[in-house]
Amino acid sequence: MRSYTLIAPAKINLYLEIIGARPDGYHELAMILQSIDLADKIDVRSISVDTIRVHCNHPQVPTDKSNLAYRAAELMATQFPEAFSKYGGVEITIKKHIPVAAGLAGGSTNAAAVLVGIDLLWKLGLTQSELEELGATLGSDVPFCIAGGTAIATGRGEQLSPLPSLDNIYVVLAKYRSLEVSTAWAYKTYRQQFGNSYIRDTDSLTARANAVHSGEIVKAILNKDAREIAQKLHNDLERVVLPAYPQVLQLREVFATQEGVLGTMMSGSGPTVFALLESEQQAQAVKLHLREAIPDEDLELFVTRMITHGIQVASSV
Ligand code: C5P
Repeated sequence: MRSYTLIAPAKINLYLEIIGARPDGYHELAMILQSIDLADKIDVRSISVDTIRVHCNHPQVPTDKSNLAYRAAELMATQFPEAFSKYGGVEITIKKHIPVAAGLAGGSTNAAAVLVGIDLLWKLGLTQSELEELGATLGSDVPFCIAGGTAIATGRGEQLSPLPSLDNIYVVLAKYRSLEVSTAWAYKTYRQQFGNSYIRDTDSLTARANAVHSGEIVKAILNKDAREIAQKLHNDLERVVLPAYPQVLQLREVFATQEGVLGTMMSGSGPTVFALLESEQQAQAVKLHLREAIPDEDLELFVTRMITHGIQVASSV
């Protein structure tokens, strides 16, 4: 095979708790991540020239080394030099549907797709955990994006425990096109404001991270209880992002007043806000009402739903 086309879904955070600081400068987290049916299409192709090329239809997405998909290909080339010289270079074409810098893991899921695609292209036969380990060196959300579904993520976000998949819950996403929030800024600001409440000793840190496994939202997920899941949504980063970005707070408030909305929350470091609903009809109605309530062309709205998978191969030639 000379080329693979992969579907790379976005994620939302149903839960994000910041537990403490890590010696590597990152934060110790307890999260619940959920794949959604909003995806980019990634084409990974062998080329005869010994180089990595990235193309993307979205003007805001860089095509150089600052693109995580490029770095994923570079990582595979350095990890597997024999395969790189045998199969030649790689051309990556990204068709963007996921909003950029949105808290939806758009860059991470593209990198995950490149890892999966090159593994197939070079016939490496890597296991899921080997791919996840490689992914963790690129970004905290990359390992989750590989298998996707519903999972608890601890550590930096790279230690995963799968949960029974959810797929019958609808999601409306709202994001201002021109608004971007830097993840690094959000965590740094959180540390400045709330760092004194961080857990410091290792045992307590581990105990707190483990507590998420028996938390209320996990019970609700095990029971596939959409109403209860929506009641237990949580994101610590809202404490810094909402005061700094009143538009995001407004989305949150408008969603909360809509009929049928079971719960609403910011995803990751934002600025995307999502609402959970029981039916597609309700989700479409909420999208319409939101459009009427905030008639700003900069506001992007999507109706999607939870899905049970991460990266999938769409076709190969
Ligand atoms: O891992 P990733 O590159 O996605 O993280 C982006 C930024 O978010 C990091 O540079 C770091 O500032 C912050 N971060 C953090 N703790 C985590 C994950 C991310 O502080 N567990």
